[in-house]
Amino acid sequence: MDFKIAIIPGDGIGPDIVSQAVNVLNKVGSLYNHNFNYSYVLAGGAAIDATGKPLPQKTIDICLASDSVLLGAVGGAKWDVLPGELRPEKALLGLRKEMGVFANLRPVSIFPQLIDASPLKREIISNGLDILIVRELTGGIYFGERGILPEIDGAFDTEMYTRAEIDRVCRVGFESAMKRGKKLHLVDKANVLESSRLWRKVFVDVAKDYPEVQLEYMYVDNAAMQLIKNPSQFDVIVTSNLFGDILSDEASQITGSIGMLPSASLGDSKCGLYEPIHGSAPDIAGKDLANPLATILSVALMLRYSLNLEKEASAIETTVNTVLDKGYRTGDIMSNGCTKVGTAKMGELVIAELIF
Ligand code: IPM
Ligand code: MG
Repeated sequence: MDFKIAIIPGDGIGPDIVSQAVNVLNKVGSLYNHNFNYSYVLAGGAAIDATGKPLPQKTIDICLASDSVLLGAVGGAKWDVLPGELRPEKALLGLRKEMGVFANLRPVSIFPQLIDASPLKREIISNGLDILIVRELTGGIYFGERGILPEIDGAFDTEMYTRAEIDRVCRVGFESAMKRGKKLHLVDKANVLESSRLWRKVFVDVAKDYPEVQLEYMYVDNAAMQLIKNPSQFDVIVTSNLFGDILSDEASQITGSIGMLPSASLGDSKCGLYEPIHGSAPDIAGKDLANPLATILSVALMLRYSLNLEKEASAIETTVNTVLDKGYRTGDIMSNGCTKVGTAKMGELVIAELIF
């Protein structure tokens, strides 16, 4: 089959990791007889440097006309001096909004080979870990009214959600729970925030359509603690944009490295936005040090969710496991007795092991 994929390498290590992921996609294409046609587009700091804008209209148009979008990472100290509206991060937020990808799926699972890379004690994670964080992605404080108030030397951002926004992302949470362990945690701050109390009401209403799912409620401060204390109690977590951002970084550390975690952002259409959950790490950009596996695993999610190629998606995931089994590690997941490899070599290993 033929597919149109928009590629946004972005900034920092973005181009390093995306090029490896594209090589893997090409290998999938040749093994399984698919044609992936790429359109490389600019966003973030790279777009600011080339066009003066973080998210050029051309990028939006090409992404919306594609079957899927693969993004490396955006941002870097170089652009930190710019005002909020012109920062590279604005490209990511703008693209999520333009694409309508309101549900961000962040699977957090531990590769058994990497159990010693986790900062948690072995006994806490020895039963494995398989959490899915469903983060609301196009609403809340990221997109609410904001401003600077010079008269009081203050500034504000607003957390605002509508019932419809909560309803649709909760449904993604429930649907995901139905396909997994049938347990769903709503993480909020309903003891303090009015918006969280609306989340609870809507959550309970949506739950009526999913009687088999076990409902759990947890305040976000407690959830931050429970993730460390007893992470295996979680199956699916559904939460707001800001809480999901924070908890997913925290959860990633349990797995040993943020460099292993992919993400899928989905909306009503099939076209999704796929990116590793880590940032652009400008300090190691272009040095062949970054771990490309989160991006390679994001390609697997793209094949599964947007292109309906489940076999191909699992083949990539199995291959990543094989490469880890053989003891190959990038610096972030390195441990005694393993073979340290760079970004390009890790990509080559995945390609070499990928079989039909
Ligand atoms: C993420 C990132 C982004 C976010 C930044 C880069 C805007 O941290 O995808 O988690 O906050 O959503
Ligand atoms: Mg984040």
